[in-house]
Amino acid sequence: VVVDVTPDGDSLDLDQVEAALRRGAAAVVPLAWRGEPSNTSALARLCDVAGATLVEDGAYALGSVRDDATTPGPRCPVVVSFHPTKIITGGLGGAVLGVSAVEAAQLRSFRNQGLTTPAWSRRDRTTTYAFQDVGFALEMSDVHAAIALSQLRRLDQIVLLRRAIFLSLTQHIGQGIAVCPSSGRTAHGWSNASMFAVRLQPECDRDTVSDRLLAVGIGSAVHYPFLADQPAVRPLVAGKQFPNAQALSAGTLTLPSHPSLTMIEIARIADALTQAVDG
Ligand SMILES: Cc1ncc(COP(=O)(O)O)c(C=O)c1O
Repeated sequence: VVVDVTPDGDSLDLDQVEAALRRGAAAVVPLAWRGEPSNTSALARLCDVAGATLVEDGAYALGSVRDDATTPGPRCPVVVSFHPTKIITGGLGGAVLGVSAVEAAQLRSFRNQGLTTPAWSRRDRTTTYAFQDVGFALEMSDVHAAIALSQLRRLDQIVLLRRAIFLSLTQHIGQGIAVCPSSGRTAHGWSNASMFAVRLQPECDRDTVSDRLLAVGIGSAVHYPFLADQPAVRPLVAGKQFPNAQALSAGTLTLPSHPSLTMIEIARIADALTQAVDG
C-alpha cells in the first residue's frame, strides 16, 4: 500500500496510514527523507494499536538523531545504507539500528544463510554450526566493513562539516530562489545534513533548472522521482492520487554538498542556481 505524505514532506499522512492499517497492512516503512528523521513516535503508536511492524528506511540518516530515541515507548528499527552516495560508505552494505539483542541475532543469522555462527568462529574447528532457518548470503565482506568502520569513527566530525556546508549554501542561496533543508533541528529530530535537496518555487520547472546547472558543469539529482510513476509501482497504485508527493517530487532538486566543497565552489553553486532559476 502506498500512502501520500504531508504537504511539506516531513511525515507520512497519518490518516492514510491508519486507514491502511485498518485494511490489514502488516508493516509501515516511513522514509527519512534527506536523512531527516520521520515521525516515528506517531507512527509507532498507530502500529502498536494495529499490531503492525514499524521500520524506518533511514538509508541517508546515519548520524541523524530522532526525538524519540531516548524516550521510553514503542521502538522503531532504522535501516541505514553504506552505499557510496551516503554520508559514509563501505562500498556497499548497511546496518540495522535500534533492534533488541534477540532481533540482532536473528538478523545476523538471516544474512548468514540461516547459520547460527559466523565464519570466523568456525576457524578453530571445534565449533559446530547449524542451519536454524532459511537465510540469505548477505554478509558484508570484512574489507567493506573495514572501509566503513574507518569513517564511522569520524561520523560526528563529518556531520559537523556537512552542517557547515549546508549553512553556507543556505546563506548563499537567496531567499525566494529555493527552500533549503535544515542543517540542524528538523520536524522530528536533528538532521545529519546528508542531502541538500532544495524545493524550488512551484512556477519553476525543475528539469530546466537541472539542465541549466549541468550546462555550467554542476550536477544535480532528484530525490526522489515520483514513486507512483515508477513502472514497478504504477500497476499497484492505479487510480490513486498522491498530490503532495507528486508536487514535492516535481519541485525538488539535490545540489552538491560534499564536505570538501570550498567557499568559492559553494558560491558558484548558489550563483548558478540563481541564474538557472531566473533563466
Ligand atoms: C531511500 C533509500 N532507501 C534504500 C536505498 C537502498 O540502499 P542500498 O543501496 O544500501 O541497498 C536507497 C539507496 O540510495 C535509498 O535512497
